[in-house]
Formats: sequence, structure tokens, C-alpha cells
Amino acid sequence: MVVKTKAKVSTKSTKKSLSVGSLLSISQLTVQDVDLILRTAAEFKMSRGRGKGDQPLKGKVMAAIFEKNSTRTRVSFETAMYHLGGTMLYLAGRDLQLGRGETIADTAQVLSRYVDSIIIRTDTHRKVVETARCARIPVVNALTDYAHPCQALADLFTLKERFGKLKGLRLAYIGDGNNVARSLIFGAAKTGIELALASPPGYEMDKHTIELSEKDRWKSGGEIYITQDPSRAVDRADAVYTDVWTSMGHEKEQAERVRRFKKYQVNAKLMVQAAPHAVFLHCLPAHRGQEVTEEVIDGSQSVVFDQAENRLHVQKAILALLMGKR
Ligand code: CP
Ligand code: NVA
Repeated sequence: MVVKTKAKVSTKSTKKSLSVGSLLSISQLTVQDVDLILRTAAEFKMSRGRGKGDQPLKGKVMAAIFEKNSTRTRVSFETAMYHLGGTMLYLAGRDLQLGRGETIADTAQVLSRYVDSIIIRTDTHRKVVETARCARIPVVNALTDYAHPCQALADLFTLKERFGKLKGLRLAYIGDGNNVARSLIFGAAKTGIELALASPPGYEMDKHTIELSEKDRWKSGGEIYITQDPSRAVDRADAVYTDVWTSMGHEKEQAERVRRFKKYQVNAKLMVQAAPHAVFLHCLPAHRGQEVTEEVIDGSQSVVFDQAENRLHVQKAILALLMGKR
């Protein structure tokens, strides 16, 4: 990734800047970056976007390329831009010339002449890296097959809000070793969370991701435990997280995945094996009756709608820090 700017914004805790010019993966952030994003998000959440100085992006325009469906990411980014004084242009991939074969490199260079930042949700992570390489403006990964950093930052924010700390928290992730799980691994490693992942054989997290996060875990005191047994993963967990069994782009594998993931449902029987105070997280959208039961996701332990709300506050922080005062 190319680091082009070290943007500054004017609110209290945002006097400092991020070490990166774009947000592609949490693995590329420093511990201080993560802390700054979470603190800035807390300020935005408290002010609800109404406080003085909360429009650091007045007059700025952001292009939002979506090559996959979205509810939360699209609407929270658009609302965030509006609250911060700017505008988001929603660009469906199929409507752009991208849909007719124009390269992402040319698209990124052209958009850089018009707008002040780009967010992109697409299939391959390589495309987002290429966008950031060719753009002259900040680029934010709004989900790829590899990572979903904005989601995981909102998840960290939600956990911190609930427990007052991240270091030493026990988080269990049950299910597919996918983009969301990967970003959680990177986020947990930066913040000292003890993360246990239970995935069915063949759907585990890749070794490279575990290795890539090792240095951060060593520094933060975070731990990672990989198992195929959901009961072991949730043992005494403070939080239990799951995601869909079939991510976007894998629809053809759905029937097979439903068979292979059956034992990986987060249900009441599994939740009682976590700590009594445990919360349930899900990035949404959810499939009740598959990865989670209705009883759990709609029950008292569920914080999924806080999580969804926090996307807005965290993305405000990301945008203000990357785009403010450029
Ligand atoms: N969690 C999440 O990214 O939701 P959307 O796919 O609706 O944006
Ligand atoms: N893993 C899911 C996350 C959706 C927000 C997917 O990629 O479809």
C-alpha cells in the first residue's frame, strides 16, 4: 500500500494523525492508529455529529464503489459523510465503465481528479490494493474477500464500550475463516484480545494470517487459539461472534456449506458455555436458523444492533482522520 498523506483533523483527540494514508487492512495500522480511531469514534458518538467542529469534511466528496451488496456499510458511510459536512457518490460497479472492462487503475486515477476519497467494496483484495496504488487520495476498504477492516474496528469499539477495555478480553469466533474473521484476528492482535476461533475442517483461517498477526500479539499480549470444537472456543468467553456460513461470492457452495457448518451454530446451548456475562456479536446480515438461532440473536445477550450503529461512529472517525484538513 502506498502511504501518501498524514491527514490531521481539528477535534480534540484528533490532533494526532494516522500513520497511513489509506485503510486497507488493520494489519497495516499501528496500535496507536487503532487507539486513535476508537477514541475519535467515541467523541463522534458522544456528540452525535452535532457538536461544533464536527464538520471537518465540509465540501469534500467521496466516491463509493460497490461491486457487492451492502446495507450497513453503504448507509453508514453515506450518513457519516453527510454528518461530517461532505457528500458520498454511490457508484454501483456495474454502472461504471468498470463493468465494461475499464481497469481499476484508470478508474482510480480518474476519480482522484474529481473527488477527495474512495471507498471500495469488491471481490478481490488485489483490486483495493491496486486502487490505493493508483489513487492520489485516501482509499478505504469497504470489504473484500480478504478483509473487512471497518467492521472489525466497529467490533473493537463495541467490545470496548461494553467491557471498558480490550486487553485480556476473551473473544470466541465460531464459523468460517473468512474476511470478517481475518480482520478480527488483526484487530485482536493489536489490542491484546485473547481470540479463540472454531471452524470446520477445510474452512479454517490460513496460516499466513496467523503468522502475520504474531508480532502484534507478542507486543500486545494477545493470544490466538485455533480449534475445530466450538465448545472449547467459547469456554469462559466474554463475547461470542459469528458470521454467515456463505459469504458473498460463494453462493454456489451454499448447500455444501450448510452441511459442513451444522455443528457450528451459535445457539443457547453453546452460549451457556461462555461466561455468564457474555455478549453475542454478528456483523450482519444474519441467517436465523443457520449460523445463529433466533433465540440468541434476538435475546438479551445480543449486541448486534449496537455493533451496527457503531459502524457509523467508527467510520466517521476513519473518514475524518484520513480526509480532514488535507
Ligand atoms: N456488516 C456489513 O458490512 O453489512 P453490509 O454488507 O450490509 O454492509
Ligand atoms: N463475510 C460476509 C460479511 C458480510 C458483511 C461476506 O463477505 O459476505
